Amino acid sequence: MTEKIQARTAASPLVVAAQGGRPSRTPVWFMRQAGRSLPEYRKLREGIAMLDSCMRPDLVAEITLQPVRRHGVDAAILFSDIVLPLKAIGVDLDIKPGIGPVVAEPVRTLADVERIPEMTRDAVGFIDEAVAIITAELGETPLIGFAGAPFTLASYLIEGGPSRNHELTKAFMLSQPDVWDALLGRLAEISTTFLQVQIDAGASAVQLFDSWAGALSKATYETSVLPHSTRIFEAIGDAVPKIHFGVGTSLLLPSMGAAGADVVGVDWRTPLDQATRELGPSYAVQGNLDPAVLFADWPVIEREVRRILAEGQAAPGHIFNLGHGVLPSTDPDVLTRVVDLVHRVSEG
Ligand code: CP3
Repeated sequence: MTEKIQARTAASPLVVAAQGGRPSRTPVWFMRQAGRSLPEYRKLREGIAMLDSCMRPDLVAEITLQPVRRHGVDAAILFSDIVLPLKAIGVDLDIKPGIGPVVAEPVRTLADVERIPEMTRDAVGFIDEAVAIITAELGETPLIGFAGAPFTLASYLIEGGPSRNHELTKAFMLSQPDVWDALLGRLAEISTTFLQVQIDAGASAVQLFDSWAGALSKATYETSVLPHSTRIFEAIGDAVPKIHFGVGTSLLLPSMGAAGADVVGVDWRTPLDQATRELGPSYAVQGNLDPAVLFADWPVIEREVRRILAEGQAAPGHIFNLGHGVLPSTDPDVLTRVVDLVHRVSEG
C-alpha cells in the first residue's frame, strides 16, 4: 500500500497509526466533528437545507475545515452524508432536522430495487472541487473520505427513515434473500463509486460507516451483509487506509476486520485492549470515548481519555476518537481540551 498512499500525508500520525505504526503522537479526530456543536457551522448553514449544503463545494470545504482550525484535530472528514450519493442520483429523500434521512418511497420489492438509478462519478462531481479546496488548506493533515455501508443504507431505504428495531429490514432480508442481495449489491456499487471519487480527488483514508450493523447477530451479519461490505473494500483496493465502523458491534469486530479493513472502529462498550484481543495483531483500532462522557466534569473526562490511551497501547496502531458521533449539544471547548490532552499524554 505504501507507495500508492498520498505522498502529502504519508508521514501523518493518522496514516501511520492506521497502518499499524506508532507515530510521535496518537492521532485524534471525532466522528461528526463538523456540525451542530460548532456555532460557526450553525451560522453557515442558516437557511440552507442539509443535503443542498453537501452539494456546494464552497460550503463543503468551509464546513470540513472548521473543526480542524478550531480543535487542531489530526484529520478532517469530508462534510457530506451517507445518503448524499443516493440523493445525487435521484432517489427521493431528505434529511429532516432532528430526525435524519427520510425516504419518500421506501424500497419493498425487486421493482423498487431496479428503480434505483445507476451511480455515476458525474453525479457527485462537486466533490472534486470541494476536495481541491480542502486539501490545499490541509497540507500534511489527511482528509478522510467516507460512505455508508450497504446494510445501514438499506435500513433507511426499507424502513423509510430511522428505525429502532429495523424490523422491516430484517423481514425483507429473511423473506426475500435474492432481492436483498440485489439491493445490497446495488448499494455496494454506489458506495464504491462515492469512495473512489473521494480517493481520486485526494482523500488520504476512508471510513465505511455501518452504524446499525450491531442490530444483527454474528451469523446473520456474516451471511447477509459481510459479502457486500467486503466487495466495497476489495473494489477500492489498497490506495489508502480503510476504517470500518459500527455501533454495538462487540461481537462483530473480527468479521468487520475481515471485510478488508486496516482499522476497526470500536464503540464505548468494548475496551480497546479487549477489542484487540478479539481482532488479533493485524488491525489498528479507532475509538472509543463515550460521547456522553463529554458532558461530565473535566476530571472524569481526563480519567477516561487516559484509560482509553492506555488500553489503545495493546493495538498495533490507535486512532483516538469517540465511540460514536459528537452529540449536537456538546461544548466545543471540551472537544478542544480533549485533543490537547490526547496529544500531551501520548507525546509525553
Ligand atoms: O463531521 C463529520 O463526521 C462529517 C459529516 C457526516 C455527516 N453525516 C453530517 C451530518 C458524516 C460522517 C455523516 C454520516 C452519517 N449520516 C451516518 C453514519 C455516522 C453515524 O452517526 O452513525 C448516519 C447514520 C447518517 C444519517 C444521518 N444524517 C443522521 C442519523 C442524521 C442526524 C439527524 C439529526 O438532525 O439529528 C443526519 C444529518 C446530518 N448529517 C447532520 C450532519 C452535520 C445534521 C444536519 C444538520 O446540521 O441540520
